[in-house]
Amino acid sequence: MDHMERFREAAQSIRELGSPKVAVVLGSGLSRILPLEGERVKKFTEIPGFPRPTVEGHAGEVAVGTLGGKEVLVQRGRIHFYEGYDLAEVVFPVRVYALVGVRILILTNAAGGIRFGFFPGDLVLISDHINFLGANPLRGPNIAELGPRFPDMSAAYDPELRKLAREVGAELGIPLKEGVYLAALGPSYETPAEIRAFRAWGADLVGMSTVPEVIAARHAGMRVLGISVVTNFAAGVAPQPLSHEEVLEVTQAKAAELGRLLSALIPRLPV
Ligand code: HPA
Repeated sequence: MDHMERFREAAQSIRELGSPKVAVVLGSGLSRILPLEGERVKKFTEIPGFPRPTVEGHAGEVAVGTLGGKEVLVQRGRIHFYEGYDLAEVVFPVRVYALVGVRILILTNAAGGIRFGFFPGDLVLISDHINFLGANPLRGPNIAELGPRFPDMSAAYDPELRKLAREVGAELGIPLKEGVYLAALGPSYETPAEIRAFRAWGADLVGMSTVPEVIAARHAGMRVLGISVVTNFAAGVAPQPLSHEEVLEVTQAKAAELGRLLSALIPRLPV
């Protein structure tokens, strides 16, 4: 079966849930923040071609329903490069959403704060990224039905969507910072020396996801908004060691606020 056939088969399976123009990917510990009205759900395992998540807490499902009258797809859980998948598998869902007709993709994640002045609990709009994965999901023959060989990445995180998010945040009294996200491979956290190097490159946040999906989304012509929950000081920024438990705890503490922001923002998206 060729690439496009796999995508089309998965797209058909998702169209049985609806025809959303907005999709939201909810990252680690955030999967419960967006209950939808009249939602219909398929597990990743029920959608042909979708990857099977391997890490506990990343159970994957796709839900379609409405939020304030707007139809939206919510992906609860994602797969990561560090789990051992190829990047082509990591971005498979995003490419399928493009075929389904999704025009705006919102990506959320947990991230370490590199920038001095970023604190655990901060919500940060991603303004740009640095791909430090050493790999690109578009490597290999271009799938011309999806997009061009050499896609532009100069405004990957849509300025208009960021402005709208800032407006909604201000109305709700939810402070939003802004910063550059660096994708590291993981699964080990970074060393203090790596974090100092990343800071010198202009990175404000570090995480292990999002960037492959953004590249695939831009390739397919979707507009992107990225939001990080800062869950910890990046390695060496504060004296204490990093732990996954801390990441999950802070995510839980901020989940409701991010849910409020997204619930107010999504009905106002320009699609
Ligand atoms: N590094 C990488 N990924 C992360 C971090 C971090 O400090 N915090 C949450 N995800």
